[in-house]
Amino acid sequence: MSTVADLAQLTSTHPMMDAVIDEVDCRRIRVGDQWLADFASCNYLGLDWDREVIEAVPAALDRWGTHPSWSRLLGSPVMYEQLERRLTTLLGSEDVLLLPTITHIHMSVIPLLAGEGVIFMDQRAHKTIFDGCSIARGHGATLVRFRHNDMEHLEELLRSHSIAPRVIVTDGVNSMTGNPPDIGALGRLAREYDALLYVDDAHGFGVIGQRSRDELCDYGMSGNGLIRHQGESYDNVIFVAGMSKAYSSLLAFLALPSRLKQVLKVAAPPYLFSGPSPVASLATAWVGLEVNERRGDDYRFEIHQKTHRVLDRLNQLEIHTPNTSGLPIIEVPLGDDEDIDAAGRYLFQQGIYVTLAAYPLVPKNEVGFRIQITAANDDEQIDRLCEVLGDMTSKFSFQPRTRPSQVGESQVRRGVQ
Ligand SMILES: Cc1ncc(COP(=O)(O)O)c(C=O)c1O
Repeated sequence: MSTVADLAQLTSTHPMMDAVIDEVDCRRIRVGDQWLADFASCNYLGLDWDREVIEAVPAALDRWGTHPSWSRLLGSPVMYEQLERRLTTLLGSEDVLLLPTITHIHMSVIPLLAGEGVIFMDQRAHKTIFDGCSIARGHGATLVRFRHNDMEHLEELLRSHSIAPRVIVTDGVNSMTGNPPDIGALGRLAREYDALLYVDDAHGFGVIGQRSRDELCDYGMSGNGLIRHQGESYDNVIFVAGMSKAYSSLLAFLALPSRLKQVLKVAAPPYLFSGPSPVASLATAWVGLEVNERRGDDYRFEIHQKTHRVLDRLNQLEIHTPNTSGLPIIEVPLGDDEDIDAAGRYLFQQGIYVTLAAYPLVPKNEVGFRIQITAANDDEQIDRLCEVLGDMTSKFSFQPRTRPSQVGESQVRRGVQ
């Protein structure tokens, strides 16, 4: 408990932690008497409030009931087959396997891929990836970490750990910085050293996709994820993503070779033993993919425009954010980590709901808050957010925009701004 003392303290006292949401009206939420603009939602495409998506649910429930309680090995409604085929086409991968969540996938698939070999994990990889690696370690794998996005360090480690199988594990679009890794460089190393590259693109899928002359913005088209966005191939790559964020549906998948899919069908515990995704999620995922085909690029353009308004505002205020990608995850570290409680309360009072990035969720020198922009946030909310960010500069210190990209331990003290 001592390692999570800061988080525990915030969770028990702060209105923006462990909150009970009393009412939701699109991207506005009510907590007690307070209505707030929601910048903590991961429903990037705004499909959680799309009428077409909502209206797809009753017919699916009439046909399948609320929930099939078979594990997938026992049997799966035909919607799984249809979804896997549709996702395979969208991604341009060899095959797709659906499981309920990315967490289920990491816990079960990373240990199977690694066996008694070596896992090379980006040191900033998501906690659920790390937990999957820890299970793998319990089954005999060796876990080594490479410095965040440091290809030279990764190559050094690949040279010095030759036991097969070898798996490189990393986030796609990072859930805090909003920045993607260089998949080309990672893929080249994977192929050169006969390793698998395992990428968790929970935050990229649905938001970024293949580049095209017809694209409306540099997020690309179709939202088919980071591998396609960077024009890379799926050779030696296992691409993992979910529908729990951009598609507002409890469902996740691996894009993988068909022969690995057959192995996972008999060896991955969630396929064998876990309860499946709810029927409502299968239905909303399916209609979500249809909506994506027709309107997804327009939604992505809206996210792009709104995100750039917030990034421009931070620039103007000379506030540092690690976001260099322009993607809709904007982390704002505070100058003084002790301000997190007060800064969060201030945002709450001003009607802005964000994700607090508390220690130990992030290192002390990155404590602050994370803003997420979805297609369902309206212009008025973006205006209000920009105004409140400006007001905050006289009350709290931020890290200055010009500081070196490598975050040091030294803190900018209150009032310096
Ligand atoms: C990078 C990343 N991976 C995995 C997860 C967990 O996904 P799921 O809810 O599908 O288990 C998250 C959720 O926050 C995430 O950000």
